[in-house]
Amino acid sequence: MADALVQLTRRRFGETMRRDAWWVQPVVVFIILTAFIVYATWAAFQNAHYEFGPYLSPFYSPVLFGDSAHSWFGPKPGWWPGFLPFSPALIILPFPGLFRVTCYYYRGAYYKAFWADPPACTVGEPRKTYLGERTLPLVLQNVHRYLLYIALVFLVILASDVWKALWFVDPATGVKEFGMGVGTLILATNTVLLALYTLGCHSLRHIVGGYLDRLAGRPVRKAAYDCTSCLNRWHPKWAWFSLFSVAFADIYVRLCSMGIWHDVRIF
Ligand code: FES
Repeated sequence: MADALVQLTRRRFGETMRRDAWWVQPVVVFIILTAFIVYATWAAFQNAHYEFGPYLSPFYSPVLFGDSAHSWFGPKPGWWPGFLPFSPALIILPFPGLFRVTCYYYRGAYYKAFWADPPACTVGEPRKTYLGERTLPLVLQNVHRYLLYIALVFLVILASDVWKALWFVDPATGVKEFGMGVGTLILATNTVLLALYTLGCHSLRHIVGGYLDRLAGRPVRKAAYDCTSCLNRWHPKWAWFSLFSVAFADIYVRLCSMGIWHDVRIF
């Protein structure tokens, strides 16, 4: 059998034979993720305008400590470091934030957009070595499975926020009455999109079906596996939709609280 000798040459950074606009996707990802990080960081440090009526911004939920009526354990704790401005969001936002940072889909997107590693498929990258995710620091991405457990708890809390957003205090009587506002729908949509994103997580597929050689004869596990696999097919879309919805939910509550936007009661 004849052997063919193929000479492999390393492409220079950005060199490619592709003729399509391969650079558009990483540039768009870079712009959107940068804008989200800047806005979320700014919003997290505000410690203000994160609630309006029965609505609570998802950036601040749950309020573990703080002056809000939503606070679980009372006001700012004594152990809070003096050099750091206090905000309830700073306690909880790292968990959903790290959940997204370690998400398998986002990793593929921001490795390209922020590190050009590579900038796109079959496009030359700026480094000559490949370290993969088996050494520090990227081996830490494996905590994703544990962050998933926390994200699932957050989903339950956000669902309870939607329930609370259905109860409005009557200013005349001070009694809570059942109702629905535009803000309720925005919080509910956000929670649904976050659920579609979280429940389609690759790690959840492994947890649900990964330990078994076969799913036959296990109808509940099979149904759960099929469900999460189905959601997983749209995982990138849910990732982006839920990123927009969580930011918009915070913006909506913030602007209503500031009196710039006015919430409309549907009933
Ligand atoms: Fe994306 Fe787990 S892989 S959330």
